[in-house]
Amino acid sequence: MKKIGLYLCILFVLMSCKTSPKTPIIDVTKRGLITDNAMVVSAREEASKIGADILKKGGNAFDAMVGTELALAVAYPYAGNLGGGGFMVYRTKDGNIGAMDYREKAPLAATKDMYLDENGDIIPDKSTLGAMAVGIPGTVAGVFEIHKKLGSLPIESILEPVISLAQNGVIVTHKHEQRIQKYQPYFPKANKDSIIFDKHWKASDTIKYPALAQTLTRLMKHGRDEFYKGETAERLVKFMQDNGGIMTMEDLAKYEPQWRTPITFNYDDLRIISMSPPSSGGICLAQIMKMIEPYDLASYGPNSVKSIQVITEAERRAYADRSFYLGDPDFITIPSKALISDAYLKDRMSNFSFNKATKSEDVSHGKVSIVESNETTHYSIIDPFGNAIAVTTTINGAYGSKLYCSDLGFFLNNEMDDFSSKPGTPNMFGLIGAEANAIAPEKRMLSSMTPTVVEKDGKLLMTLGTPGGSTIITSVLQTILNIHEHNMTMQEAVNTPRFHHQWLPDVVLFEPNSFPKSTIDSLKQKGYTTNEERSPVIGKVDGILVLENGTLEGGADRRGDDTAVGF
Ligand code: GLY
Repeated sequence: MKKIGLYLCILFVLMSCKTSPKTPIIDVTKRGLITDNAMVVSAREEASKIGADILKKGGNAFDAMVGTELALAVAYPYAGNLGGGGFMVYRTKDGNIGAMDYREKAPLAATKDMYLDENGDIIPDKSTLGAMAVGIPGTVAGVFEIHKKLGSLPIESILEPVISLAQNGVIVTHKHEQRIQKYQPYFPKANKDSIIFDKHWKASDTIKYPALAQTLTRLMKHGRDEFYKGETAERLVKFMQDNGGIMTMEDLAKYEPQWRTPITFNYDDLRIISMSPPSSGGICLAQIMKMIEPYDLASYGPNSVKSIQVITEAERRAYADRSFYLGDPDFITIPSKALISDAYLKDRMSNFSFNKATKSEDVSHGKVSIVESNETTHYSIIDPFGNAIAVTTTINGAYGSKLYCSDLGFFLNNEMDDFSSKPGTPNMFGLIGAEANAIAPEKRMLSSMTPTVVEKDGKLLMTLGTPGGSTIITSVLQTILNIHEHNMTMQEAVNTPRFHHQWLPDVVLFEPNSFPKSTIDSLKQKGYTTNEERSPVIGKVDGILVLENGTLEGGADRRGDDTAVGF
């Protein structure tokens, strides 16, 4: 009897294993924008265009990064920013790789319990709304550092079009109108005076940003120190303190971005290059992809019951590790190598069965709720020289802390909520944290941002990333799999409906009305809890694929106003 069981087991494993690759059949009618030389894909056409124009006049991907990032601060205040931070992963034309961490830091006066009351309970809204939620911004330091090390054009020729955009204004899209309306009730809660976004802006109105244009002009004239030590710093600190914040001139003066070594790993014949801590993105992506690599996803098909099961179970296990092990590498020791080792991940998946869902309480414990969001923003750039970058930048929540400095023209982040204010209690993304991500002065809060570059056979294949809080990692994952396993075009891979699981709460989220009832029913029968209402969209991926003939295909997510521009 035992022998029969063993044979069945071996047969089952063999049936699950990858078959040899077949000739791909790609539906070319589903391709996005194709260009010969270069491309920028971002959340707003204005920002993609400014980036592409910089490339056209001879700038490289790093020059275009500076222009695109700052143009998003003007055209996409929902997530683009001067008052936040981000991560960039790059691969140069020669194959050199690197990463820039310009993540926000906790102020010097921050304490572990700063969001708890005398009973040790979380004070509602304190880490999300208003001045106490704000981490020390890193964006300006990040872009100037990238320009200094890797840029080629004078800063004036990069910033002038961005300043013009702020002066001339940005046309409100239908989606932007909806976003402003949705968050308007929160603005008076965070701001003493009325702000520009209190007005009832309608689609096709133009919003001008004169204060932001002046701030950008001072940055162009005086460089990064203007933001961290100069007049802008003084005005920002005064504003923060007037609004009950704890940011000081010393906090700004001490801020430094960090060059990091990206996380790299192989999946079949791909080499994935992604963000290292303090983002959890690269490690989680590596864990999930290595756990699912042995399974024949291509034969299961995209978004099939079996594919969803394998991916969900790997996600469950990776997010459980995330919450325990990951945080700022300058403050804690992260067992990165062990976490992505083959032996560890094989063992982690050893109790997975297609017959029945694993319960998250058997992986660990906890009971939480989740609020999904698509704040944060991502853009991808490939230049005519062959340099590729993936950048994800954020002020965390939609319009960050909702605190808007009218004097300087930008929103401040609420990134402090990405720390675990109280270990075991979820943040706004429902993510549970542990001691590794506890608050400490000058520490960086854990992120999920996953800017990623992919190589195939040693050559550049793709650059991609997405906003989406905790759903970032799973959205990047599914886009790569759609291309690699399911032969989709870049645009099709981005457009395809997505699902998400993050260990706790133990529920698989699906984009609404996007998956067949039979798929959802079958998963329920196997013990999965599903939800199609909570997440109107999961991720908003922007990527660029290098096609076999060397041309570029853009994937600009249909879920937003995202646009690919190139030549
Ligand atoms: N604030 C979202 C993230 O960093 O993942």
